[in-house]
Amino acid sequence: MVQTPAAIFVEYANQVRSEIESALTRYTEYDADCPSRLREAMRHSLLAPGKRLRALLVLMAAEACGCTREAAMPAAAAVEMVHTYSLIHDDLPAMDDDALRRGLPTCHIVFGEALAILAGDALLARAFEVLASGIQPASVAARCCAELGCAAGASGLVGGQSDDLASQFAAGDLRLLEQIHRRKTGALIGVSLKLGALAAQAATADIECLDVYGQKLGLAFQIVDDLLDIHGNESDVGKRTGKDRDHGKLTFPSLLGIAESKERARQLVSEACEAIDSFAARGNRLAALAHFVVERDR
Ligand code: IPE
Ligand code: IPE
Ligand code: MG
Ligand code: MG
Ligand code: MG
Repeated sequence: MVQTPAAIFVEYANQVRSEIESALTRYTEYDADCPSRLREAMRHSLLAPGKRLRALLVLMAAEACGCTREAAMPAAAAVEMVHTYSLIHDDLPAMDDDALRRGLPTCHIVFGEALAILAGDALLARAFEVLASGIQPASVAARCCAELGCAAGASGLVGGQSDDLASQFAAGDLRLLEQIHRRKTGALIGVSLKLGALAAQAATADIECLDVYGQKLGLAFQIVDDLLDIHGNESDVGKRTGKDRDHGKLTFPSLLGIAESKERARQLVSEACEAIDSFAARGNRLAALAHFVVERDR
């Protein structure tokens, strides 16, 4: 039987996800100086059943450019830590005020707001520690740290989150919305591919193709997230649905409607796949992941 692209991705992801989760467990063991309640709060969110999509992107990009998964694993763990910190803070009452994440009560519901903020802070710091000390050679590690810092910072993820909050119940157009999605979600997805390519010391032409693939995929990913907030099943997505409308969020379905948003996501995924045409068979898994992103129900 011929496997669909999404099935190819699911099979690979199931295998590699356990390697990623072992690394995340190892990287958050800590010594006695780490308060046990803080470690519990970090691990509550980090080891909860996420899709590990950004970590998978690091590893797939690295493998597509000729590097082993083992050599790129510190970068995969680092992006997953930054992502989890961003989710913990995104769920806080001062932000989206959510009580459910990855099928579990959110960090602040279990551990209180102060410890949730600190767990996020500690995951962000650990990410850079793991990246700086785990990627070889040191010059590549330094470049990875600079790229991740830029993507996670004020012109990237944090900037997008800031504009996402500022645009609640406010008038906004497609240009503003794309700018928000590109930074709050696209930046980390894009840098995941970049770190994988850097760890593999990939050719500039490959890095450029992955960059275009990442930009298209990042936007498609957040459009589908917006759609899942409307028609997703809470137990599948592992988070509350219907919250974007309650919070007056600027989203693709709120501006374009459901059908056009779906079409936009599909179009972006096909453009993402075109961008890595030159990878030929090396790009099969990345293409399969892109198809999974539009077909997913979680
Ligand atoms: C959720 O990301 C936050 C967004 C940027 C939309 P994911 O849907 O990748 O969440 P997990 O990692 O699987 O929990
Ligand atoms: C969050 O976007 C993006 C982040 C940087 C965490 P959302 O607020 O739409 O993510 P969910 O729906 O809560 O996962
Ligand atoms: Mg949010
Ligand atoms: Mg949210
Ligand atoms: Mg959302």
